[in-house]
Amino acid sequence: MAERVRHEWRLALPGRLPTKRSHACAGLKLRRPALVDAPALGVLLLDAYRGTVDDEGEDLKAAVAAAEGYFAGRHGRAMPEASAVAWRGEVAVGGCLVGWGQRRACPFVVMVAVRADSKGLGVGRLLLGECVRRLSRAGEIEVRALLTEGNAASQALFRACRFEDLGPPQSS
Ligand SMILES: CC(C)(COP(=O)(O)OP(=O)(O)OC[C@H]1O[C@@H](n2cnc3c(N)ncnc32)[C@H](O)[C@@H]1OP(=O)(O)O)[C@@H](O)C(=O)NCCC(=O)NCCS
Repeated sequence: MAERVRHEWRLALPGRLPTKRSHACAGLKLRRPALVDAPALGVLLLDAYRGTVDDEGEDLKAAVAAAEGYFAGRHGRAMPEASAVAWRGEVAVGGCLVGWGQRRACPFVVMVAVRADSKGLGVGRLLLGECVRRLSRAGEIEVRALLTEGNAASQALFRACRFEDLGPPQSS
């Protein structure tokens, strides 16, 4: 498998974002994630990443472990207070998980994912926008993310939320 190239993306806070949800997002309940949500988040991650350039062929067990790893601080200290999961009933339709950077002292979007049957409806924008708002309200001055080159959907989402592509990460 070819090595993946990642770019760092950055948004200076407070970010200016649209406040309205699209009609397609009506009825979704946004909640902060908790460890108890890891099984539902695992199902979401498996479904959302399948077939994308970031798909590593994980099974459900690995996807749930990835969700648990977020809370365990595998990607830096988890920041559930700045994160959001969109629920339709018991189903996690999308999630945006934020953590404190390990190599750079600022918040990072660790992952943002939307179920395949709900992509392209504004759920990703709703979730990333909500996290940006929460970080802005908390007084953070920037938020960053690492996106894989060729992941057109994630690049479009972050561009739509006014993040800037900084290219491959420079050491801080
Ligand atoms: C990336 C992802 C979260 C986007 O979620 P989404 O709910 O489908 O995105 P939205 O519907 O909110 O769209 C946001 C913007 O991106 C654009 N977009 C979404 N998918 C796109 C695609 N496949 N190609 C081009 N543009 C796309 C939309 O047109 C929209 O732009 P606009 O507001 O200017 O019209 C979703 O595709 C996903 O779960 N991908 C797999 C996981 C992943 O790769 N995550 C990112 C790395 S952590």
